[in-house]
Amino acid sequence: MGGIGDVRKIRIFDTTLRDGEQTPGVNLNIQEKLQIARQLQKMGVDVIEAGFAIASNGDFEAIRAVAGEIRGTTVASLSRSLEKDIDRSWEALREAERPRIHVFIATSDIHMKYKLKMTEEEVYERAVAMVRYAARLCGDVEFSAEDASRSRLEFLYRIFEGVIDAGACVVNVPDTVGYSTPLEFGGLIKKIRENVGNIDKALISVHCHDDLGMAVANSLAGIENGAGQVECTLNGLGERAGNASLEEIVMSLSTRSSYYEAGHNIDTTQIYRASRLISSLTGVEVPPNKAVVGSNAFAHESGIHQHGVLAEKSTYEIMTPESIGLSKNKMILGKLSGRHAFEERLKELGYELDEETIKKSFDKFKDLADKKKEILDSDIEALVGVDMAGIPEIYELESFQISSGNRMVATSSIILRKSGQLITEASTGDGPVDAAFKAIERAVGMAFKLESYSIRAVTEGKDALGEVNVKISTNGKHLAGKGVSTDVIEASVKAYINAINRALSTAGNGH
Ligand code: KIV
Ligand code: ZN
Repeated sequence: MGGIGDVRKIRIFDTTLRDGEQTPGVNLNIQEKLQIARQLQKMGVDVIEAGFAIASNGDFEAIRAVAGEIRGTTVASLSRSLEKDIDRSWEALREAERPRIHVFIATSDIHMKYKLKMTEEEVYERAVAMVRYAARLCGDVEFSAEDASRSRLEFLYRIFEGVIDAGACVVNVPDTVGYSTPLEFGGLIKKIRENVGNIDKALISVHCHDDLGMAVANSLAGIENGAGQVECTLNGLGERAGNASLEEIVMSLSTRSSYYEAGHNIDTTQIYRASRLISSLTGVEVPPNKAVVGSNAFAHESGIHQHGVLAEKSTYEIMTPESIGLSKNKMILGKLSGRHAFEERLKELGYELDEETIKKSFDKFKDLADKKKEILDSDIEALVGVDMAGIPEIYELESFQISSGNRMVATSSIILRKSGQLITEASTGDGPVDAAFKAIERAVGMAFKLESYSIRAVTEGKDALGEVNVKISTNGKHLAGKGVSTDVIEASVKAYINAINRALSTAGNGH
């Protein structure tokens, strides 16, 4: 956990559900957002930004659901500096044990002139009035000066002083377009500390984007210069190149706690699980060389390194895989394992699932045990990952048949089940996956655009489980789908059906 003794604790503000969800192609439903919020709570984040209440009904309902369930963690909703936004946020947050209204307005000349078409004076008046308005509704108000790192310094000091007087208890300094450098950004935080008269009445927060790959470095520079809150996302998800990655910031603070003289409240052993959950629900793969959570982060390839690690781990490992909750792939269960053993293992792995999800996952586990001799933790995680999303199975795969070869046109026939009725369709296609996807579309009576398709082996060996992630689009909405099977065509078919079920179940969710 948080590092040395009674050092100051940096508050971890997770915005995976708000800024992270703005990753191109990511669209999470309420059940998925709740799953993520539960994991964030378990991990011990201080603040969960659950969404932007006025953006859509889907966002509003998700914030409401998170606010109604999460305890012991602050739940925030973003609002522009407008009364209607603040009212909507407050409506969504009412049931939260610790609600926070997060109000923002842009403060840089570029944004004020071209986007807001407002003068400095108008922006100042609006920000102060809206923070005062929000503070009458909620005891915890955060103010963000969007594009702060490109804002005129004297104006930034003045607006922060004004909003703190109006009731803001957190002032956030975003590097909205990832333009800053660590030295410059650290200097900015120092100057804010030195020049905002009433800064001792508020916590300084940093919020950095990764356009030049410096989001984590800039955030840490902010912490070194007095920031007490850091806004970040799991796996560094977010608009464009993403936000500062939670796991990198937290593990930097843990690994170098005496350098930063700062700790945190995070249970780092929950990090790996959280990262897998996000990747599985968003369909955004973690690159193998990603710091902390990438599959190579603890792999030692060169002989010299392997020798060193075998002799003494600290030669080449500055943190242990166990510290982020990465256990060695244990051989755990087999064909003869019963439901009790399966449930016990799920609990040990940290899953708390409802009866129906356990039952579904257990049935899949039994099918898998017929095909694969040794079932590893990562197999279980892949199986459970699909069901945890809670997507209603509007269409289910009954059976399929494919024929393909290098000198023939691929053909497929598919039988789907919908509300007890069987629907049979066939199609040719450009290869077996294309033929199968076309047959599914005919069965469903709708066409989708396949935006992306990826496949990975969950474990090693020829009998490994294949995990397929697809992204489809319809009416401007992007939907992810996942399927797992020891047969990669079956995994592809399941992933496509999963994405279609998601599209149908989120229709009208409007994001
Ligand atoms: O990047 C940004 O400026 C933001 C603010 C709304 C906090 O996300
Ligand atoms: Zn942002």
